[in-house]
Amino acid sequence: MSVKQLLRSEVVLEKYGKSLAGKTILITGISEQSIAGELAIQLSTADPRLLILSARTESKVAPIIEKIKESKPDVETRFLGIELADLSSVRRAIEHGLSDVPKIDHVVFVAGVMACPFDKTKDGFEMQFGVNYVANFLLVKLLLPKVQAAGPGSSIIITSSAIMRQGKVHLDDLDFSDGKIYDPWAAYGQSNAARTMFAKRLGEKLKVQGIRVFSIDPGSVNTGLQRHCPPEFLEMVKAWEKPGSLVDADGNKFDMQPWATRSEGAATMITGMIDTTISVDDNGSFLCQNAVANDHMHSHVRNEENITRLWEISEELIGEKYDI
Ligand SMILES: NC(=O)c1ccc[n+]([C@@H]2O[C@H](COP(=O)([O-])OP(=O)(O)OC[C@H]3O[C@@H](n4cnc5c(N)ncnc54)[C@H](OP(=O)(O)O)[C@@H]3O)[C@@H](O)[C@H]2O)c1
Repeated sequence: MSVKQLLRSEVVLEKYGKSLAGKTILITGISEQSIAGELAIQLSTADPRLLILSARTESKVAPIIEKIKESKPDVETRFLGIELADLSSVRRAIEHGLSDVPKIDHVVFVAGVMACPFDKTKDGFEMQFGVNYVANFLLVKLLLPKVQAAGPGSSIIITSSAIMRQGKVHLDDLDFSDGKIYDPWAAYGQSNAARTMFAKRLGEKLKVQGIRVFSIDPGSVNTGLQRHCPPEFLEMVKAWEKPGSLVDADGNKFDMQPWATRSEGAATMITGMIDTTISVDDNGSFLCQNAVANDHMHSHVRNEENITRLWEISEELIGEKYDI
């Protein structure tokens, strides 16, 4: 699917879903309102062996597991509790919650927070950078041996956002001077720029192993994500919806994605996982509307020095080095 188009998950699964039969899939960010919750239900229709469904509280996942049990009783499901604002929770979950799972075929990082008031994670990172990016940087490192065990054709999908187009990683001031110059949207943009830069480098590194890595924009979807938005958010969105009203970090105009359903939002994640028209040769690409959209990456995000610095800083933040 080389042409950008808004597709429902059902359409992508009908074409490529057979490859998911018998597979083990881990998804973060599960809730009834979230894109990840919809993704889990959609993927269950393709008869995977095990769906590992992560959230910080089990009550968020329970209704999704219930729905899957009703329609697909043979698909095994499991709750994995992770508080992404606490790296010790990330480590505990992988060490104790997955010790009996030798391989994971697909990992889809969907959990995230948008435009929250200034706050810090338990490890002292600005909240959006910590939850949306640093926790995933550690999760990927810890999960990589299990994905490598699944072998070529496995995938690591990192959710990003169209706001990546406006975001830059403030490499010398990641926490906005300890919140003094905090702007919730710049911080959301920073965290998504970091997600896409991470996927770009990780994808390049894992190409030789045949592990698919993409960052994806799910589009504009009405979910729990808007919970921190101010009352004037709807007015802001109306302004963004005007064609050519958005400007990327290089000064180029672009249009807001059309509003999408949760099924359409999850579809580009599924495309990244299994669409065979997008290959490992495209690794590290940014996907939007079920197609490669690397023209959405601006010069800061593409910059190899920035990407290298971000990677090195991230290894310092998690206190571990990648072995790839
Ligand atoms: N919706 C959109 O229009 C849109 C557009 C572009 C990109 N995205 C990206 O898509 C992803 C999914 O968002 P969504 O729209 O499905 O929003 P959502 O309904 O708010 O789902 C996000 C999930 O992330 C979880 N989460 C937040 N903070 C967490 C933490 N500290 N630890 C563990 N889990 C945490 C939330 O759990 P709790 O309920 O417990 O907080 C929630 O279940 C996000 O990464 C977002 O940046 C969304």
